[in-house]
Amino acid sequence: MDKKQTEYELRKISEGVFDKSTLMSLYKLLKKGYLNEMRGIISTGKESNVYHGLLGKKEVAIKIYSIETSDFKTMDRYIKGDHRFHGWRNRRQLIYCWVQKEFQNLSKVYRKINCPVPIAVEKNILVMSFIGKNGIPAPRMKDLPPDDPEGYLEKILKYIREMYSLGLIHGDLSEYNVLNWKQPYLIDFSMGVLLDHPLAEELLQRDIRNILNYFRKFGIEKDEEETLKSIKK
Ligand SMILES: Nc1ncnc2c1ncn2[C@@H]1O[C@H](COP(=O)(O)OP(=O)(O)O)[C@@H](O)[C@H]1O
Ligand SMILES: [Mg+2]
Repeated sequence: MDKKQTEYELRKISEGVFDKSTLMSLYKLLKKGYLNEMRGIISTGKESNVYHGLLGKKEVAIKIYSIETSDFKTMDRYIKGDHRFHGWRNRRQLIYCWVQKEFQNLSKVYRKINCPVPIAVEKNILVMSFIGKNGIPAPRMKDLPPDDPEGYLEKILKYIREMYSLGLIHGDLSEYNVLNWKQPYLIDFSMGVLLDHPLAEELLQRDIRNILNYFRKFGIEKDEEETLKSIKK
């Protein structure tokens, strides 16, 4: 695609959904070769929308944070005390930090656990590998319960342990942020914190509680304290 056509295509897709700065960032990602094509929308949320796209033949997910509607207060609470990020001066800059955080969190762990592979970040946009096929995202574990709950629970706990040993706590783990794609895939890493973060312990406990609560539905009982200990071992 030449430049003019690319801009035209982008404008057509966005149809007033994106502000100028987001369009510029998308264009930058195209120009740098981190994205070739943007396709349909897969998810709309308060904080962000997720789109399907292509990078060569590879399918990618494009997560675009909304500057207008993102929950500035919650973001501020969770990013404060994270020594990787400081110095934001307004809502927009905080959201850029938030997206960097998600990218860096993924970068830390993607080699060791099932999760999207981070590809690029540009201001309020994150590009990562797509979990799913032909534009259809893998279902969330909430919508497609696992055939083998025992095995899934063990795997998810193994991922939590693995992340912990790499110095990261997911911070927003639940059946909503696990995709069921034959194996569990963890997504949505923007809340993730390092072990020295003031909220680290609280978030780790919450992650474990959410996961154990979900698997209780399948008659699997596991003690929260014991599980927590086993993660830190
Ligand atoms: N890498 C990905 N591959 C496939 N689908 C994804 C990917 N990332 C997100 N999605 C889809 O978008 C939805 C929302 O993404 P998520 O990161 O959980 O954002 P949020 O919960 O903040 O809206 C997910 O439930 C999933 O359906
Ligand atoms: Mg989510």
